[in-house]
Amino acid sequence: MKKLLLTACFVAVAGLAHADPVADREALMKSFGRSMGELGPIAKGEKAFDAAAVQTALATLNENAQKFDPAVLFPESAGPGESGSPNIWTNWADFEARATKFKTDVAAAAAAPPADVAALQATMGMIGGNCGGCHENFRVKK
Ligand code: HEC
Repeated sequence: MKKLLLTACFVAVAGLAHADPVADREALMKSFGRSMGELGPIAKGEKAFDAAAVQTALATLNENAQKFDPAVLFPESAGPGESGSPNIWTNWADFEARATKFKTDVAAAAAAPPADVAALQATMGMIGGNCGGCHENFRVKK
């Protein structure tokens, strides 16, 4: 009986962890948005350049970016969600390649954080290009 209960618990926990890929990916995307939102004002010169703050924001972005596993977050069974495009599953290889490139680019930026505003602008352009490129192809405007 005890064993049965335990098994039931494990199943419930495992079920919870993967219950809602749409919510998980939206939370992840929002975390990307927050990191970019921290870096934006610095890149625009609205906030003084702060190397440590830039490094921290990029480290956080990278930590979250590496959690972007298309197969787990975008299973076809979960559907397009709020603003995903059905193109994701008809162009899966492209979608996956974009996710991989995004992760590689963010990892590189976090490993060698920009040391001044000009370098940060270039970094933001590169990372933002990944976000925008994928959204253009695989996200529908609400
Ligand atoms: C490989 C593709 C891809 C990349 C790279 C990507 N996104 Fe997304 N993003 C999506 C898709 C697809 C959705 C729609 C998901 C849904 O509605 O379920 C989305 C949704 C979002 C949302 C809305 C989340 C919500 O709650 O509805 C935000 C904000 C966002 N992305 C920010 C970013 C930022 C910032 C970056 C770059 C730092 C980024 N994304 C990189 C594919 C991508």
